Formats: sequence, structure tokens, C-alpha cells
Amino acid sequence: MSSVRKRVLITGGAGFLGSHLCERLVAQGTDVLCVDNYFTGRKDNVAHLLGLPHFEAMRHDITHSLFVEVDEIYNLACPASPIHYQFDPVQTTKTSVIGAINMLGLAKRLKAKIFQASTSEVYGDPTLHPQPEVYRGNVNPIGPRACYDEGKRCAETLFFDYFRQHSLKIKVARIFNTFGPRMHPNDGRVVSNFIVQALQGAPITLGNPVETSVAELADIIIAMTGSRSKITRRPLPIDDPIQRCPDITEAKTILEWQPKTDLKTGLSRTIEYFDKLLAKGPGLEHEATA
Ligand SMILES: NC(=O)c1ccc[n+]([C@@H]2O[C@H](COP(=O)([O-])OP(=O)(O)OC[C@H]3O[C@@H](n4cnc5c(N)ncnc54)[C@H](O)[C@@H]3O)[C@@H](O)[C@H]2O)c1
Repeated sequence: MSSVRKRVLITGGAGFLGSHLCERLVAQGTDVLCVDNYFTGRKDNVAHLLGLPHFEAMRHDITHSLFVEVDEIYNLACPASPIHYQFDPVQTTKTSVIGAINMLGLAKRLKAKIFQASTSEVYGDPTLHPQPEVYRGNVNPIGPRACYDEGKRCAETLFFDYFRQHSLKIKVARIFNTFGPRMHPNDGRVVSNFIVQALQGAPITLGNPVETSVAELADIIIAMTGSRSKITRRPLPIDDPIQRCPDITEAKTILEWQPKTDLKTGLSRTIEYFDKLLAKGPGLEHEATA
């Protein structure tokens, strides 16, 4: 290929975070290849990019080998909310672990820089608040959340072994719960902002350190949407973390990053997005139960 344009592969590019990343990188003049098996992602999330000359979408499952030529890889493919990752837990672990092996192997062959979308779930139900990067977590390895938590932990292990063993250029971001336009209708996740920079040789935490309880969040959403919904209190799902809060000291000092969008601003943008989607009519209900 003769182009000097940077070529980037984004796995999970049709998902919530991935589609925003595709958009951002295309806007920056990067050549973007979006790879997704559309398990939780939607073609609609990237439909507006499809006609652009420097954007390409490919249906592919990252648990299978992929032979492409790129300069950088952003590995975001993985169902991210409990309802989705517990639907087929074996496939979830395969996506995290075999997917990471495939993407790291590709990066090694291409000498490409590779980014891993890791998660606050590597901390499990933490016993330390807030959670700094050095905290090793409290994860139940055999519970219903383990397919995701342990899958992501193993993916981190693989990334750091490729870094130590093969001098691969890796970036690992532990992203805390994020919401916004294009998230899946079934997601019940809370806020932060997302950024694509991270550190070489150490994971970095990205999230919003302003804590909000789920009960407070439910009240705020009901008030902002004017919904007639009533709050039902149920027992906590098995191994669900009781409290979590990112310690973003490293992100602030090293990356000079901190979240810019407060909860209510983020919610109003998200509500506007879902209002528009609902106004489009049938289809959403089907997706919401997929
Ligand atoms: N959104 C958050 O709050 C959050 C927090 C921490 C980490 N993350 C991580 O960020 C990444 C993106 O999350 P998201 O919120 O955009 O979720 P999402 O479900 O919207 O996006 C994930 C994408 O990966 C695709 N995918 C799943 N399995 C695949 C496979 N085997 N092969 C190819 N594509 C596959 C899905 O179809 C989807 O488009 C995930 O790796 C997730 O674990 C997200």
C-alpha cells in the first residue's frame, strides 16, 4: 500500500465506544477498518461513515484469525454489559482471550501498536476505594461475572506478556462504566468519559470519580425523562460490585486527562438520542431483547 495515511483496525467498531472511536479517527484523517460480528453492535452506529473513502466495515469474529495490514489496532470487541456477556459466557471468554491472542499476534507480525479496552471489572467487588491501578482486585473466578472479569484479566496478562516478551507497543485502559448515545438500549451502566491514549507498560484508569449510587441515578433519570416508571428494589445479582470509584490520579498527572461531561449533561444527550431512536418506531424493542 502506498498511502501515508495511518491505517487503524478497530475491533468492536460497530459498538457504542467503538463507533465513536471510528468517527473520531476518520475525522482526524485516519484510514479506519471497523471489524465487528454485530453481536451487540449495530450497523446503524457506523452507517453514516460507510460512504466515506477512508472507512471500511468488515463482519468478522475476532476469535478467528484475521489477516489485514494496519499500523495500529484498537481492541474493543467484547460484549460489555452483564445481560449480554452472560448470554453466552464461553463465547465471552473466547472473545476476550482468543480475541486478544489473535489481535496480539497480528500486532506482533505487523509491529503495530495495540490498545486494549480493559475494564474496572478487573477489580471485581473491590475492597479498596477508590481503586488505583496498583489494586489487584477481588474477583470470584467461578461466578457468573467471571467470563467477563477473568476474560479481561487474562487479556491484560497477555498484553503485558507480549510487552515483556516481544517488546510489543501496548496500551491498556481500564475504563469505568460509560454511557452515552449509541449505547445498547439494555445497558444499565453509569458514566464516565472515554479516551484513547494510555500508558506504555502500565494500565491506566479512565472514569468519572464523581460517585453516584444506582438509586440516585434512577431518580435522576425518572425526573429528567418525566417517566411514570416506579422503582422496584431487587436483591443484588451475584458478585455485583457494591461500590466502585476510579482513582484517576495517574490519568490526570500523566495524560492530563479528566472527564469533561457531568452526569446530567451526559444523561440529557443520551435521553435525546434514545428519544430520536424511539421516534423511528419498531425495531428497537426487538434489539432491546436480543
Ligand atoms: N461501555 C463501558 O462502560 C465499558 C467499560 C469498560 C470497558 N469497556 C470495554 O470497551 C469495549 C467496548 O464496549 P462497548 O460499551 O462499546 O460495548 P458494545 O457491546 O457496544 O461494543 C462491543 C462490540 O464488540 C462486538 N463484538 C463482540 N464480540 C465480538 C467478537 N467475538 N468479534 C467481533 N466483534 C465482537 C459487538 O458486536 C459490539 O459491536 C468492550 O471491550 C468493553 O469490555 C466498556
